[in-house]
Amino acid sequence: MRIGILGVGHIGKTLSQRLSAAGHDVKVANSRGPDTIDADVLGSGARAVSAAEAVVDVDVVILSVPLNRLPQVAPLISDVPAATVVIDTSNYYPARDGEIEAIERGQVESLWVVELLGRPVVKAWNAIGSDSFASKGKPAGSPGRIAVPVAADDERDRKVGMGLVEETGFDAVDAGTLAESWRQQPGTPCYCTDLTREEMMGALAAADAARSPKRRDLAVAAIMERVGDGTTNPDAEYSVRLHRALFM
Ligand SMILES: NC(=O)c1ccc[n+]([C@@H]2O[C@H](COP(=O)([O-])OP(=O)(O)OC[C@H]3O[C@@H](n4cnc5c(N)ncnc54)[C@H](OP(=O)(O)O)[C@@H]3O)[C@@H](O)[C@H]2O)c1
Repeated sequence: MRIGILGVGHIGKTLSQRLSAAGHDVKVANSRGPDTIDADVLGSGARAVSAAEAVVDVDVVILSVPLNRLPQVAPLISDVPAATVVIDTSNYYPARDGEIEAIERGQVESLWVVELLGRPVVKAWNAIGSDSFASKGKPAGSPGRIAVPVAADDERDRKVGMGLVEETGFDAVDAGTLAESWRQQPGTPCYCTDLTREEMMGALAAADAARSPKRRDLAVAAIMERVGDGTTNPDAEYSVRLHRALFM
């Protein structure tokens, strides 16, 4: 497939590497221009282009920018044909994104994105931490392969999203419609807890809409307390341990 990725940060970089290694024709862009994209992002054959070029003549667009940057990319997406599958990896963190009133009132994050973009999206790769995403992918059928939930309203879009998740090294789990996708938002049991497919269904069912935002903010506070003094920075597994303790 021809795939355009907007955002080559923690998640977009691994998406670029894995999807081009899987044989897809991948273009990537950030906000600052193709010359600023690191060579390792392009190591498996992806091409660096401008943000406007990344979304033209592709079968799939993947948005991997912070939620509060989505309004900047929305005008580019408005010209993308309806047949193109748009996949969004974003999560809402008020400490980073600023408070968004509709989401604070309980609007499902992916439905806020749908409203903003004026078109359907697939929600995928939002519930895997960047370190796990970069280092824990395995071939299909491997024991203990980590699962990634995928939510969508359109069956064709869901199939495309789930297929690409599998190609990045993770079991794709059908997490239902976008209206149900609050079950994979920050603070829920399946969020960045590195579960298997078997564990994921129970975790989605156990999600608690009222408590997840509080748990999300507790996780941010705990991480901020540990990061930054140069001596106590947690290892990559700290985040998985923390999310399991707080969210499950
Ligand atoms: N980090 C995680 O563990 C993780 C896990 C799952 C999901 N997510 C979610 O996935 C999304 C991306 O997260 P991340 O951690 O990968 O972010 P990140 O490391 O901060 O990278 C963000 C990327 O988006 C690009 N970008 C920002 N505004 C843009 C614009 N207007 N046009 C094109 N590119 C733009 C940035 O480019 P410039 O540097 O040039 O601005 C950068 O390449 C977020 O919503 C996040 O919540 C993150």
